[in-house]
Amino acid sequence: MVKRIPKRFFDLTSPLYDFIIRDNPTSKIIEVLKLTGQERVLEIGAGTGRSVASVIPLARQVWILDPSQSMLQQAIQKFPSARPVLGYAEELPFDEGFFFDRVIAIDSLHHWDDQLEALKEIKRVLEPKRGFSLIVEFDPSRPLGHYIKSMEKFFRMGSRFFTPLEMRKLHKQANLTIIRQAYVDEGTYLTISTNK
Ligand SMILES: C[S@@+](CC[C@H](N)C(=O)[O-])C[C@H]1O[C@@H](n2cnc3c(N)ncnc32)[C@H](O)[C@@H]1O
Repeated sequence: MVKRIPKRFFDLTSPLYDFIIRDNPTSKIIEVLKLTGQERVLEIGAGTGRSVASVIPLARQVWILDPSQSMLQQAIQKFPSARPVLGYAEELPFDEGFFFDRVIAIDSLHHWDDQLEALKEIKRVLEPKRGFSLIVEFDPSRPLGHYIKSMEKFFRMGSRFFTPLEMRKLHKQANLTIIRQAYVDEGTYLTISTNK
């Protein structure tokens, strides 16, 4: 069942987001994206653009997708060269054959209503030969992830977190092939996959 609670939550809290959350997780792992300046990159759940900041100077074109117009508006003001897309991970509004070299989702997947459907959509839009996706998530079995999970439960955000093992299973169900999984810090981990 599609609940769309996160969209309403982020619509309401968007003016405070950059004030409360100040770090840029992508800057710590930018090298894993192997950007050469030629890539078309899609960030799903881009929010206010916090994570895409370090990607934009290194890619040919960046699309930022989010269901919350107020989050997206802030991102557009900061990064006018990015292409804003209002939409959901579960129904990516791109035609068949429209591909991205990189699809990234930072601190966003646990907010999606239907993660399996969304991963199938990622597979659909990934460039078939050299494209790959990067998902960065909290591990709920580690203290930091457990804390974030408890906080989001308290705020009734409807979030659903996955351990690295569960994330592997989910990718397998979506027919995505994991090529790397690693911790970024004590509580978050990355998963890189291709559609081969
Ligand atoms: C915690 S914020 C992360 C934003 C950004 N990636 C960052 O690192 O700052 C999560 C974002 O996911 C978005 N989101 C929630 N449900 C979504 C869905 N079904 N599809 C795509 N994005 C969604 C929210 O609107 C929000 O902007």
